[in-house]
Amino acid sequence: MPRIPEDKIDEVRASANIVHYIQQFVNLKKAGQNFKGLCPFHSEKTPSFVVSPEKQLFKCFGCGKGGNVFTFIKEYEKVPFIEAVQKAAEFAGIALPKDDGPSENTGYFQQLYAINETACSFFEQNLWNGQYKRYLQYFIDRNLSEETIKKFRLGFAPDSYEKLLPLLKSAGHDLEEAANLGLINRSEKSQGWFDKFRFRVIFPFHNTAGRIIGFGGRKLREEQQPKYLNSPESPIYKKGEILYGLHQAIQSVRENGFLYIVEGYFDLLRLVEAGINNVAAVSGTAFTENQARLIRRYTKNVYIAFDGDSAGRKASVRAAQIIEKEGLSAFIVRLPDDEDPDTFILNFSTAAFEEIRKKNLSPLEFQIDAFFQENKNPPLEEKESFIENVLNQLAELPNQVKTGLYLHQLSDRLQINESLLVDQLNRFKRFRLKNKTKEEATASPKIKTHSGMYKAEAGILGLLLNGKSEIRNTILGEIGIDSFTNPNFIRLFEYLIQEYEETGGLNPGRLLDRFSEDEEMVKTITELSIAEYGDEAKFAKDCVFQLKRFQLEKRNTELAQLIKQEAASDDAVLHYQRSLMETKKQLNELTKQHRSQAF
Ligand code: UTP
Ligand code: MN
Repeated sequence: MPRIPEDKIDEVRASANIVHYIQQFVNLKKAGQNFKGLCPFHSEKTPSFVVSPEKQLFKCFGCGKGGNVFTFIKEYEKVPFIEAVQKAAEFAGIALPKDDGPSENTGYFQQLYAINETACSFFEQNLWNGQYKRYLQYFIDRNLSEETIKKFRLGFAPDSYEKLLPLLKSAGHDLEEAANLGLINRSEKSQGWFDKFRFRVIFPFHNTAGRIIGFGGRKLREEQQPKYLNSPESPIYKKGEILYGLHQAIQSVRENGFLYIVEGYFDLLRLVEAGINNVAAVSGTAFTENQARLIRRYTKNVYIAFDGDSAGRKASVRAAQIIEKEGLSAFIVRLPDDEDPDTFILNFSTAAFEEIRKKNLSPLEFQIDAFFQENKNPPLEEKESFIENVLNQLAELPNQVKTGLYLHQLSDRLQINESLLVDQLNRFKRFRLKNKTKEEATASPKIKTHSGMYKAEAGILGLLLNGKSEIRNTILGEIGIDSFTNPNFIRLFEYLIQEYEETGGLNPGRLLDRFSEDEEMVKTITELSIAEYGDEAKFAKDCVFQLKRFQLEKRNTELAQLIKQEAASDDAVLHYQRSLMETKKQLNELTKQHRSQAF
């Protein structure tokens, strides 16, 4: 990776408009000076995610995440800082110095991607050249075309302990890292390394940027265990945060306006083979909120096409709840009992599959159907407990219109007066709200209300970062490092002073990037920078006053304690008393001055 000169980074930061960048992924609405939307980093129903066009910062007042455009890209697209700069540069149409060769490619993530790439090419090449070519037949027998096999870079891992290993070595890769990626293992006995994927067909996982982050390998012999061996979590692969095949699906999702999700690799490949490219697979994990948020970047409509068996049905309802809680729309593609999308399309047809999708079966209808299938003539109590269950789910939906629609369906199908349902739903909502605020109050000390001291320290630093230069200078004349008590503020003040002394100015834009690896500092700096101070001169005066007063009051308390100490000699007590009177006088003067005089 080339080192990018600092003024180039400044140029990118200034040109990649954070509002436009974030708008690609988050629906932002104008709110006063700023823009607001639903936070992409945690789930919420009312927007607390704020983007400031003036300050070029974002900040979520719910979960605390915040920063500049680089921070956003880093967190949202899960890339290292330098790549975030590159992405922003691309977005802003700014050319960066070219990469001059692989020796520059030394970032840690880069190293991991390179290891996976070596493995992926090896597995892939096995299907097309050399002694293992015949295993291509496995995929052909499963009715996949060469085009699809190539598109997904499917591969084959031979029945041997030392085939990938020598390749990793000769490519100069770090074997410990290859082991962390789950490609090789160390033998307990001999301490030698050996290949982990053996005699399996291989499905590489891509992240949305197209890099290889892991693998799944299906067994080829009945007695092998497990059926599918998947890569472990690693710094570049977090389970439940990706969807298999999403990278290849993105364009088609945009064209079609919806995404299918299926359970297995072969389900996905079957759809692709049938010309349906807007599909991703959960592949082996329960569907997660993170996956729902990932999908939200590309579409609001999700068709769940899981296996038709009872496990698949349960998983569909669960996934639909998670999807709708995130404000998306879920529909269920209900397949016959013993089919998955792969077998269904093979046994029936693509048209039959799409026919089912076009029914737009809502998760609620799906549940109601299932209820009546299990209970032919349900007694009242059965109905009541079913309704209670459904209303509890509805109470979590962020979308009022959809809730209304569902209530109507429920009332219609279960023959229950709609207004009764509305009453009960509202009761559940109130209950949830009460519990939630209780939870938040106990579970998250982060949302503590700040003390006056904290506010004053924060105010001073905020003004140093964003205030006019006269105000900055006045503050620096009045305030020293010993005015601060909060450890993050002390570090920040130290840094600012140093930069100020070295350069005669402060560059708030660069500041966030200096601390880009320190999440707490990024949060702190963003919080300070995004705050609005109204009349800056007056605010500065108040903050300086507060800090000085706190310092004097602290001194007062200390002195009072010293005087009370039994061990203190008469002389010392006298001395303390004089000091105490002095600080009290100063405090009085300070207060008088503050009341009467302008800054
Ligand atoms: P299935 O057992 O339904 O497999 O698991 P499948 O996709 O239909 O595969 P074939 O058609 O029998 O070859 C569904 C998905 O669950 C994950 C895999 O992603 C699989 O595609 N899975 C299953 C695992 O991760 N590990 C396992 O041991 C089994
Ligand atoms: Mn299956």
